[in-house]
Amino acid sequence: MINILGIESSCDDTAAAVIQDGVLLSNIISSQKVHESYGGVVPELASRAHQQNIIPVVDEALKKAGIARRDLTAIAFTRGPGLMGSLLVGTSFAKGLSTALNIPMIDVNHLQAHVLAHFIKEDKDDQNQPSFPFLCLLVSGGNSQIIVVKSHKEMEIIGQTIDDAAGEAFDKCAKVMGLGYPGGPIVNKLANLGDPNKFKFNKPHIQGYNYSFSGLKTSFLYFLRDELKNDSDFIDNNKEDLCASLQKTIIDILMDKLRKASKDLNIKEVAVAGGVSANSGLRDAFEDHAQRFGWKIHIPKFGYTTDNAAMVAISGHYKYLDNEFCSMDAAPFARVTV
Ligand code: KG4
Repeated sequence: MINILGIESSCDDTAAAVIQDGVLLSNIISSQKVHESYGGVVPELASRAHQQNIIPVVDEALKKAGIARRDLTAIAFTRGPGLMGSLLVGTSFAKGLSTALNIPMIDVNHLQAHVLAHFIKEDKDDQNQPSFPFLCLLVSGGNSQIIVVKSHKEMEIIGQTIDDAAGEAFDKCAKVMGLGYPGGPIVNKLANLGDPNKFKFNKPHIQGYNYSFSGLKTSFLYFLRDELKNDSDFIDNNKEDLCASLQKTIIDILMDKLRKASKDLNIKEVAVAGGVSANSGLRDAFEDHAQRFGWKIHIPKFGYTTDNAAMVAISGHYKYLDNEFCSMDAAPFARVTV
């Protein structure tokens, strides 16, 4: 049996999961609340919290899986990209445990792991996985990419944001409206109550499959500034419609390029991954495209949209099958693409 322990500590979630022969046995996440009052993740506080959480989280994952440490086959950990101090905690822990147990270590790219989350099996008969090649829209707080996924290992980024990510656009516009952090889920909730066609915001004109969201953020800001001159309660009075219109614009921008990529490359199997894939409007847009364009779509369960260790463990599983291990001098990396 292949028992892989996955460890994720790239940002503000400390997570551990166990996968046995490709099937998920446990998936534990401790999300750090300490950042809420700062309106964003504070790197120093994140790494300290990882340091406190990592042993209890790993212990709980093993306990829930019914696996003893000595029964682990290998340890997979997120090597990057992410916050350096946070990554160092997971990496160092993986090195320590791998040395103590004398088992191999597998380094995992966080972005590839988000894509491979679609291969997590909750039971051994689970067949609902994408077939290659498929397109994956990876949308998170730090990335917006269109990826051609050719195999578990081979992924080609054909488009990406040239400035802000889609999640950042949600978060920054939410901040301008005085909503909480992270803004994406709050905007989503209010958007469900509003009219998406009430306000129009400009969409960028960018070549190819690349994205840009910084212009939207600026035009949203200027629009609110002008409206507030006439009505100081404009935001409060229009919160739902503002959120619905903003969300529709972001989704339209994402789907326009994805549709173009699908048509140009003639790939009709399309997946979505990353934190923003929790957005109900984006999920509806995928369903709508499945109906209209015959796409076979893959939408992750909510638990696999945000950072989690199950996706790290499944990535480790596939690398294990290919004998791809890393050495003890593997250092984390803060920035990189797929
Ligand atoms: O992948 P992720 O968990 O982590 C990082 O990129 O660090 O993505 C987090 C992003 C945030 O920008 C958050 O606002 C966004 O995902 N997000 C959402 C929703 N849930 C999370 N954005 C829109 N609608 C949602 N329901």
